Amino acid sequence: MGETVKLVDNLGRRINYLRLSVTDLCNMRCSYCMPESGVEKLKHSDVMSYEQMLTLTQHAVAMGIEKVRITGGEPLVRKGLVKFLESMAGIPGLNQLVLTTNGMLLEQMATDLKRAGVQRLNISLDSLRPEIFSRITKRGDLKRVLAGIAAAEKAGFPIKINMVVMRGVNDSEIADFAALSLEKSYAVRFIEYMPVIKNDNWQSLVLTGEEILNRLAKHYSFTQVVRGGLSGPAREFRIAGACGTIGVITPLSGHFCHDCNRIRISASGNVRSCLFSDEEFDLKPILSTGSPASIQAVLRNLVMSKPASHGMTQTSSSHVPFAMSQIGG
Ligand code: 5AD
Ligand code: SF4
Repeated sequence: MGETVKLVDNLGRRINYLRLSVTDLCNMRCSYCMPESGVEKLKHSDVMSYEQMLTLTQHAVAMGIEKVRITGGEPLVRKGLVKFLESMAGIPGLNQLVLTTNGMLLEQMATDLKRAGVQRLNISLDSLRPEIFSRITKRGDLKRVLAGIAAAEKAGFPIKINMVVMRGVNDSEIADFAALSLEKSYAVRFIEYMPVIKNDNWQSLVLTGEEILNRLAKHYSFTQVVRGGLSGPAREFRIAGACGTIGVITPLSGHFCHDCNRIRISASGNVRSCLFSDEEFDLKPILSTGSPASIQAVLRNLVMSKPASHGMTQTSSSHVPFAMSQIGG
């Protein structure tokens, strides 16, 4: 067999990072992700089987994908996940298998995830105050999430915490979150709110990365950390004397599009070249009937259509065209 053509887009961006959603279901209802009325569930037959996901990942890895992030919904609610992850971890050429979770089921699953070969976890945590946490997540339980984080640490995972910052909701906790990086080697990430949920007033919720850093500068002195390789789009800093790091992720204000290295696949097998693009391609039909060449051709065409950048800004009035719980952030 000849050398498989690698995924490089029209702008020369090498695509080596795949975000794979394994379920659209979630045991929380975060205000920034799901409307209160919930979202329509995918039919069981519309969700890709683990087998299909493995096939797809093998093709993607042959084409240059080196890192896979498992997302949801909440990935830990899907049955049989640990066994699937073991198979994923065994794919030759896949250097990094990582997972994003809301932490609710981590206490009981952390050791198994580690054993299965997951290398790192991103844990979503938006408040350290029980009432605010409940208000944001509706069905979440802060105590369980904190126990989950402790279990993940005990299982030997490096811990990354993602906080979506929202003005008037949890922005008074920015300094408390940064303090989590002082004693432990946690990586704490502040994420700009993105307008996923219809809300005419969404701009008022946004704190830009700059604003977050300015607020932090009132409490701490910190310096930028240089990062390498397959690391994501966060700008990272270390508070003087801290064990861990803090960082900002600025999907809205800071254009990291120019070195975007990722594609996304939803639980139903729709592949997308950009979170903000409404162009999707349904891979499921060709996964069951297509030849390896046709599957790879779809991935290649998708990457070639990857937009140069997204048009979202803090002042734009539109919403992003997707259900976050289906595409996994
Ligand atoms: N804005 C910013 N980040 C979001 N995420 C989900 N919805 C949004 C949004 N509207 C990200 C968060 C969350 C992860 C699952 O996806 O980081 O922790
Ligand atoms: Fe669930 Fe994550 Fe969406 Fe919250 S952000 S509702 S935890 S998928």
